[in-house]
Amino acid sequence: MSTIHTTLSFLLFFIFNYHDVFAIPTTYLCRPEQRNALLEFKNEFEIRNSSSLYCSNNRGSKVSFYSKTESWKNNTNCCYWDGITCDAKTGKVVELDLSCSRLHGRFHSNSFQNLGSLTILDLSSNGLYGQIFFSVRKLSNLTSLKLSNNQFSGQIPSSVGKLSHLTSLTISNNQFSGQIPYSVGNLSHLTSLTISNNQFSGQIPDSIGNLSRLVNLSLSGNNFAGEIPSTFGSLYQLASLRVNFNNFSGNFPITLLNLTKLSYLSLSNNKFTGTLPPNMTSLSNLEYFDVDNNAFVGTFPSLTNLSSNSFTGMERSIKHGLSSDLRTLDISSNKITVYWKYSDFLKYLS
Ligand SMILES: *[C@@H]1O[C@H](CO)[C@@H](O)[C@H](O)[C@H]1NC(C)=O
Ligand SMILES: *[C@@H]1O[C@H](CO)[C@@H](O)[C@H](O)[C@H]1NC(C)=O
Ligand SMILES: *[C@@H]1O[C@H](CO)[C@@H](O)[C@H](O)[C@H]1NC(C)=O
Ligand SMILES: *[C@@H]1O[C@H](CO)[C@@H](O)[C@H](O)[C@H]1NC(C)=O
Ligand SMILES: *[C@@H]1O[C@H](CO)[C@@H](O)[C@H](O)[C@H]1NC(C)=O
Ligand SMILES: *[C@@H]1O[C@H](CO)[C@@H](O)[C@H](O)[C@H]1NC(C)=O
Ligand SMILES: *[C@@H]1O[C@H](CO)[C@@H](O)[C@H](O)[C@H]1NC(C)=O
Ligand SMILES: *[C@@H]1O[C@H](CO)[C@@H](O)[C@H](O)[C@H]1NC(C)=O
Ligand SMILES: *[C@@H]1O[C@H](CO)[C@@H](O)[C@H](O)[C@H]1NC(C)=O
Ligand SMILES: *[C@@H]1O[C@H](CO)[C@@H](O)[C@H](O)[C@H]1NC(C)=O
Repeated sequence: MSTIHTTLSFLLFFIFNYHDVFAIPTTYLCRPEQRNALLEFKNEFEIRNSSSLYCSNNRGSKVSFYSKTESWKNNTNCCYWDGITCDAKTGKVVELDLSCSRLHGRFHSNSFQNLGSLTILDLSSNGLYGQIFFSVRKLSNLTSLKLSNNQFSGQIPSSVGKLSHLTSLTISNNQFSGQIPYSVGNLSHLTSLTISNNQFSGQIPDSIGNLSRLVNLSLSGNNFAGEIPSTFGSLYQLASLRVNFNNFSGNFPITLLNLTKLSYLSLSNNKFTGTLPPNMTSLSNLEYFDVDNNAFVGTFPSLTNLSSNSFTGMERSIKHGLSSDLRTLDISSNKITVYWKYSDFLKYLS
């Protein structure tokens, strides 16, 4: 009995593997107009050796730089080229991942003609410049757009609102400028919006409160000014909010106390004034809180879970080891009034 069973299993195993090896889908043929579009795209850019060996990809791990486009050859099936993924049914190119590929050069406005089926576009960590948004705005099926670590410039046009399927928009470390268009509120599927380290300015539009699925929002390292809009209070899924290194002003944005999922909040290096809210216990998941280099005055808020969580922000601010009892210190009961330069305050305690 068990022999028969084993034999049958073996046979089945063999049949399934046979199927896997020989049934390479023939429907996976690259479309000629898309192959040509990709080859033209390739020819627009130079391959340059990078001065560093490793590239930090979007997942934060280090990978080697290497030129994916070098393997792209005419009259071969582009669905098998490095960095390309095609849809299994239609054979259309749906994914273009050329991160860390040593591409260098200026973007042309028609770079993505015939590639309108793209859902994922990743050009992170190359030497690309020019005004890419004018070509990207036609890619209405995009769900993920990653352009970090290049020298792209220009503004985000209001037509970005047409990219309404985007779940992730990551354009940090470029030279984008101008204001964030009101139409960004149309990107209601976004879970991650990272525009840090650019030259954006102006106020943040109220419409951002529409992005109710946002989990990560990073506006750090720009020149944004004005107050944090009260509509931030409806970003109920937000876990990480970074607005540090800008020119934001006004009182502590009290509306943030609605964001019970927040675990990371950095307001440092802005021009916030007034007092911190006396009671921030609604933010029971907060693990990092950083208000360095503002003009806050008053007492430290009570934070229920100060004791159970590791307060990385504080720990980082304390350069020379305040007593390890910090986690259980009830700072609010001390009623210490200090000029709210946060790191100075911590020095008073030590
Ligand atoms: C690829 O080859 C085809 C002919 O097979 C030709 O028509 C087309 O122009 C070539 N594309 C490029 C970008 O060289
Ligand atoms: C890049 O570096 C390799 C050796 O690491 C060298 O063989 C190649 O010629 C270089 N290419 C360019 C375009 O400089
Ligand atoms: C965008 O996606 C839809 C639905 O999957 C599809 O019908 C349409 O053809 C796609 N657009 C392009 C330009 O491929
Ligand atoms: C918002 O997205 C819809 C599609 O979901 C689109 O029809 C509309 O034009 C977009 N609005 C703006 C202002 O971009
Ligand atoms: C908010 O999102 C909805 C779709 O979810 C859209 O119809 C509306 O125009 C958006 N509002 C703003 C201000 O962008
Ligand atoms: C938010 O950021 C954290 C930490 O960088 C990451 O682990 C998580 O996957 C991000 N979530 C989304 C939805 O982007
Ligand atoms: C914040 O929550 C309060 C109730 O707790 C609610 O009245 C207020 O509208 C919320 N604010 C926003 C911007 O959603
Ligand atoms: C920052 O904002 C203040 C007004 O709040 C303004 O006077 C100042 O010029 C701004 N600084 C920069 C660098 O934009
Ligand atoms: C903070 O507010 C909560 C309710 O919002 C309350 O239960 C708690 O006692 C308050 N803590 C302090 C120290 O005032
Ligand atoms: C404190 O954090 C723990 C998890 O670390 C959570 O279970 C608990 O509910 C939190 N306490 C409050 C008062 O929110």
